Amino acid sequence: MKRTAVALAHPNIALSKYWGKRAGGGNVPAVPSLSVTLAGLATTTTVTFDDALAEDALVLNGAPAGGGPLARATELLGRVREAAGLRARALVVSTNDFPTASGLASSASGFAALAVAAVRAAGLDYPAERVADLARRSSASAARSLFGGFVELDGEVARPVAPPGQIPLEVLVCVTTEAPKAVSSRDGMALTAAESPYYAGWLETAPRLHAELRAALLAGDLETTCALAERSALAMHASAFAAGVVYVSGATLDALAAVRALRREGVIAYATMDAGPHLKCLVHARDAARATERLSRTPGVLRVIRAVAGGGARVLPSSPPGASDDEAARVVDAAGPLAEEPPR
Ligand code: PMV
Repeated sequence: MKRTAVALAHPNIALSKYWGKRAGGGNVPAVPSLSVTLAGLATTTTVTFDDALAEDALVLNGAPAGGGPLARATELLGRVREAAGLRARALVVSTNDFPTASGLASSASGFAALAVAAVRAAGLDYPAERVADLARRSSASAARSLFGGFVELDGEVARPVAPPGQIPLEVLVCVTTEAPKAVSSRDGMALTAAESPYYAGWLETAPRLHAELRAALLAGDLETTCALAERSALAMHASAFAAGVVYVSGATLDALAAVRALRREGVIAYATMDAGPHLKCLVHARDAARATERLSRTPGVLRVIRAVAGGGARVLPSSPPGASDDEAARVVDAAGPLAEEPPR
């Protein structure tokens, strides 16, 4: 017997960052974080539980995948099988419509889409919070991609805090390399916790920055939200730096200088960086074209991807009748991430 489901999820960018895990296992972040889910870029994943399969199999962007990616998918599928009392192995086919080395965390949208599709295919009746918890165990930032707009992850719980239109924000992803990241976020966090003399400072600072950023966001204050996001990113990177974990490159710093030059000219533009050398510029939507033009001609910036806040993860019809991501993006998350799209 075969049971199949298709799901779509968008990547997210943390404004207040999570870096470090709580002791005791379970992949629980040490500090709260708040992100924006991005529209227009998506991972689409099909999960088919099939009694005829001997092992789980993963096809990532058209190519069979083994090793770490397959092991992590199998881990999540194992949890779903256990909860549903299923024994069948699964075929997972996952496609990103953005390049993997784009500077956007494909693990966030990837595990969010996988969790939604696996839960649906297994016939589990989980509310979104429970699916987010399943995704969090694989990649903590993935829990945030279950929801649209601005989303908080506090301990084990992910929850939406504001709709996509809360502030007029555009995110400009400045791609600075095509190479995969040198140190995974998992390893970078472990090294920071073990060896950075500033990790304790980060643990103390991050919750305060997060609370201030959350309050600014809820007050609709774009500039303070973005300024605190830059603070959070720099504090995270400073703590990692001191453990020898350096994600930024010369191009990242040149892009940061360009963002700051824009600011001196009166543009509301701030920067954030994750576990890689790409810089994301947080800019007022009215100045996004100008900032894109400036950043595009910054040496070391290969291209700029523009994005705005979007909806949460959701189930798609199993055989979409020519569904495009644009069509999918119009389905907002009002009905909840597990709501099935109406057939067109
Ligand atoms: O989702 P993870 O466990 O791979 O870690 C993500 C860490 C950052 O992207 C650097 C910060 C964040 O909160 O997303």
